[in-house]
Amino acid sequence: MSDASAPRLDADPRHPTLTFRRAAVDDHARVVAAIGPWWERPGTDRLALLLPRLFFQHFADTSTIVEDERGELAGFLIGFRSQSQPEVAYIHFVGVRPDQRRTGLARTLYERFFEAMRASGCRRVDAITGPPNVRSQDFHRAMGFELTGDTIIDGVPAWRDYDGPGEHRVGFTRPL
Ligand SMILES: CC(C)(COP(=O)(O)OP(=O)(O)OC[C@H]1O[C@@H](n2cnc3c(N)ncnc32)[C@H](O)[C@@H]1OP(=O)(O)O)[C@@H](O)C(=O)NCCC(=O)NCCS
Repeated sequence: MSDASAPRLDADPRHPTLTFRRAAVDDHARVVAAIGPWWERPGTDRLALLLPRLFFQHFADTSTIVEDERGELAGFLIGFRSQSQPEVAYIHFVGVRPDQRRTGLARTLYERFFEAMRASGCRRVDAITGPPNVRSQDFHRAMGFELTGDTIIDGVPAWRDYDGPGEHRVGFTRPL
């Protein structure tokens, strides 16, 4: 159900049946619950731990929740402006419900985030994914991101041991 306390954002003519609003703490449980079924990949219980409640407490105003006409979660973007590098914006998580995919919803979420971050002075946007997440790599390429790394893993550039031993990550970066 919709969180009445979270500010509504402008509607988007590309998605007339969907509602866009800021994230709120009450969204945490249902966003985390969506990760398993939406990611459709092994190890998603571990992924959910990468999205703790603090993101909904401290990065709510740069994160977006999308709901359908029934108030059900249709998509989300969790992002923020870097505290340490104010010219950099960072997208931590994006997800679109399987039946809403390939309609441009993730593109819309990204473009709206780009615009807001550009307006607050950011000049670059970064993100990461794991080398096996080819879908995320294809999506980010389509969104104009360059893939970065210090080696090649599973055929893609990746930073070896980026998040600890064996935790390799593909970097994404794009000017704003
Ligand atoms: C990745 C994901 C967010 C894409 O959402 P989406 O709403 O279907 O994407 P869009 O329809 O906005 O597509 C935007 C662009 O990415 C491309 N794209 C999207 N999904 C793609 C896929 N599976 N394979 C190849 N390209 C893809 C589209 O072709 C499109 O390019 P275009 O605009 O130049 O035609 C969605 O598949 C998802 O939620 N996956 C599970 C979660 C995940 O892996 N998140 C990313 C890592 S955090």
